[in-house]
Amino acid sequence: MRFLVLLLILHLASAAPTQPPSDFTIANLYAEVVPHSSSSRYSFDLSTGSNSIATSCVATPQTESNGELVNVTRTPCDDDPRYTWAWTIITTTAGSSSGSEDREQDATTNATCNIEYWFVGPRFSLYAAHHVPADQIVWTNQQSPTGTVQAYAGPANFTVPVESVY
Ligand SMILES: *[C@@H]1O[C@H](CO)[C@@H](O)[C@H](O)[C@H]1NC(C)=O
Ligand SMILES: *[C@@H]1O[C@H](CO)[C@@H](O)[C@H](O)[C@H]1NC(C)=O
Ligand SMILES: *[C@@H]1O[C@H](CO)[C@@H](O)[C@H](O)[C@H]1NC(C)=O
Repeated sequence: MRFLVLLLILHLASAAPTQPPSDFTIANLYAEVVPHSSSSRYSFDLSTGSNSIATSCVATPQTESNGELVNVTRTPCDDDPRYTWAWTIITTTAGSSSGSEDREQDATTNATCNIEYWFVGPRFSLYAAHHVPADQIVWTNQQSPTGTVQAYAGPANFTVPVESVY
């Protein structure tokens, strides 16, 4: 009996992956301030490696009235809290001398972002960060000045190499 239990333990141990995954996989990435509202919505599906089950990661933080995307502090994913993520906005203001103070209409404020991903497991933990360049954060709904908002316009699906295993 004891031998069988030992065999079972050995079997379970060998069935677990021995190498940590080398990538985070991101699918269906979406981020946009909701026009005419004070909220925004960020969502994507996150997994590691090729055979892990993706978890849905969603946040709906309050925004300022200027239509800009806001920071999301480290937040657990919905289906699997071993995964957490954060979205940090880095604002760059154009050196434009237009004199206009209305950023919603002339959209001279651009943003780049860093998205960070963590997986914390019993055997290993993983971290990666992904930079979103300025041309992937756009102002949309331009035809309606009061509804102009920032949105993510980069790829929906991509992988990010794991930066550290700890
Ligand atoms: C992204 O991946 C999802 C799920 O894997 C798929 O349903 C969707 O069509 C893909 N989107 C694009 C733009 O390739
Ligand atoms: C977002 O986070 C960055 C880095 O911590 C910080 O510099 C920036 O001021 C924050 N932005 C807002 C609107 O809180
Ligand atoms: C902001 O983005 C617009 C459109 O992509 C671009 O023309 C402009 O040069 C950018 N400004 C800055 C400060 O990056």
